[in-house]
Amino acid sequence: MKIFAYGIRDDEKPALEDWEKKNPDVTVGYTQELLTPETAQLAKGSDSAVVYQQLDYTKETLTALAEVGVKNLSLRNVGTDNIDFDAAKELGFNVSNVPVYSPNAIAEHSMIQLSRLLRRTKPMDAKVAKHDLRWAPTIGREMRMQTVGVIGTGNIGRKAINILKGFGAKVIAYDKFPNKELQEEGLYVDSLDDLYAQADAISLYVPGVPENHHLINKDSIAKMKDGVVLVNVSRGNLMDIDAVIDGLNSGKVSDFAMDVYEEEVGLFNEDWSGKEFPDPKIADLIARDNVLVTPHIAFYTTKAVDEMVHQSFDAAVAFAKGETPAIAVKF
Ligand code: COI
Repeated sequence: MKIFAYGIRDDEKPALEDWEKKNPDVTVGYTQELLTPETAQLAKGSDSAVVYQQLDYTKETLTALAEVGVKNLSLRNVGTDNIDFDAAKELGFNVSNVPVYSPNAIAEHSMIQLSRLLRRTKPMDAKVAKHDLRWAPTIGREMRMQTVGVIGTGNIGRKAINILKGFGAKVIAYDKFPNKELQEEGLYVDSLDDLYAQADAISLYVPGVPENHHLINKDSIAKMKDGVVLVNVSRGNLMDIDAVIDGLNSGKVSDFAMDVYEEEVGLFNEDWSGKEFPDPKIADLIARDNVLVTPHIAFYTTKAVDEMVHQSFDAAVAFAKGETPAIAVKF
């Protein structure tokens, strides 16, 4: 059996070597390149392809892969918003993702960023770096004094809620598909509008599917409290970034942490040191004291990377054997 993996990064190699040791009967080929119509032929002769990328898996890409005989596609990440599922269905693909590699990793990052915003660590660190050790005016706010609105209560949102409870924050939540336990706890508000009206800070944990496109926009921001804090570690397309920038400019949004950006492909996980950003908006956001930009690293922990590799390769083997792994995507 042969599995071919795309976009393998150096930091994934220890996990991959470990997986190969445990599966000596499987031949693994890989490249650092991403799966595109051009690189699809690298997988020729393989039973399954393992991929990780934020580029779109278009009909053209999937067709190119099918043409070299590979119709099993295992994603090493959770988001499936970049797959053309109509094409995948038409071409007879099997697809899996890794829905639970480490919800803690992402939840933790979001809450670290929220606490950093509240305690104003970015301007404070900048002062300390300049040897200015005065307190004022960098006074912080306490987590337990905040009502935090959690949008999306799947695996990651629920971990975030646990962290918030540990801080003593008041949590309110919204999800189209409420979780029974949280419902019994009375955490849910009836509508997003209710959440916007009550929350001092709002953090998002929903997928970047079309119906969530620009969930946070001019109108929704207008419904929020003055001085609301926003956190997005989920998908860039959940926010109309221009509306968020307008909110920051007017003070309606007091602070903002973003780990994802609608235009992040080709921008994040690249070294721009000594160069100008191709996108002036990102330069503007990074320059602000009250904005924390991280380049899609919420997931990026040793535990998560290990799980992403192991679970996706296991699923690729299952598909190759004609089985349906538990993490197969239904479409
Ligand atoms: C995901 O798992 O979907 C992420 O956002 C992480 C990233 C490696 C794509």
